[in-house]
Amino acid sequence: MDLGLKGKVAVVTGSGRGIGAETVLALAQEGVKVVVTDIDAESARATQQRLAALGFDAIAVPADVCRAESVEALARATIDAFGSVHILVNNAGFPRDNYLAKMPESDWDAVIDTILKGAYHCTKAVLPMMMAQRFGRIINISSRAHLGNPGQANYSAAKAGIIGFTRAVSLEQGRYNITANAIAPGFVETEGIRALPHYQRIKQAAIAKTPLERVGTPRDIANAVVYLASDAAGYITGETLHVTGGRYS
Ligand SMILES: NC(=O)c1ccc[n+]([C@@H]2O[C@H](COP(=O)([O-])OP(=O)(O)OC[C@H]3O[C@@H](n4cnc5c(N)ncnc54)[C@H](O)[C@@H]3O)[C@@H](O)[C@H]2O)c1
Repeated sequence: MDLGLKGKVAVVTGSGRGIGAETVLALAQEGVKVVVTDIDAESARATQQRLAALGFDAIAVPADVCRAESVEALARATIDAFGSVHILVNNAGFPRDNYLAKMPESDWDAVIDTILKGAYHCTKAVLPMMMAQRFGRIINISSRAHLGNPGQANYSAAKAGIIGFTRAVSLEQGRYNITANAIAPGFVETEGIRALPHYQRIKQAAIAKTPLERVGTPRDIANAVVYLASDAAGYITGETLHVTGGRYS
């Protein structure tokens, strides 16, 4: 099946590692020119080099999604290199867990800023180009935690917020043939997750609650991104696709 992705240009934030790195690989495998962007310049470059070694069209542009000027420079570098942007994946984000009664304001701000303000900056930066070309795919990485997780008031609020953001953008941009959808992953084994305290215990608890009886892989999420970016999903907008192995609680 031709997914209609050949020659398209994608920006995937936080793609130096984890779900983002697998997503740029999956998109590149479908013929997409990819912009590997991450606040961690070294990981962005390493991922870009891996893609280039496989013969894929990829550039690395370090950027902090929380800073408008950094994101504007990212958009300019993308246009300079590839002439356009068709697909934006707002993936950069992280949890910073604590019970609310003990949560420092800085942990609240860091999570909300990266996930919500990051999506605001990045989406705003690419919209003029997408509107002018009458085509765009915005894919926001939410989380099953949007339903609410103890110890994750900041993260749950941000991941629920990104779903509201997605729906608002879908309503505003439909007339320009721009779709906006969210993906809510369950537990996905990545570097970010492995760094959490009690990682093994959380992993076993996740498997116990998952009908498919395994944790997710970065490819499970990347496949969903490829689908939502493709022509096959051209009439889907404002949706949240749960990629959780059937887990909701
Ligand atoms: N892994 C999971 O179980 C899981 C589950 C649900 C949702 N998610 C979401 O998926 C996304 C990716 O998660 P992951 O597990 O691959 O994480 P990860 O920590 O492995 O990778 C996240 C990347 O984002 C980058 N990043 C952080 N702050 C940034 C900023 N301000 N600007 C640009 N880049 C920044 C990091 O440097 C890192 O490379 C996140 O939004 C996360 O909340 C993950």
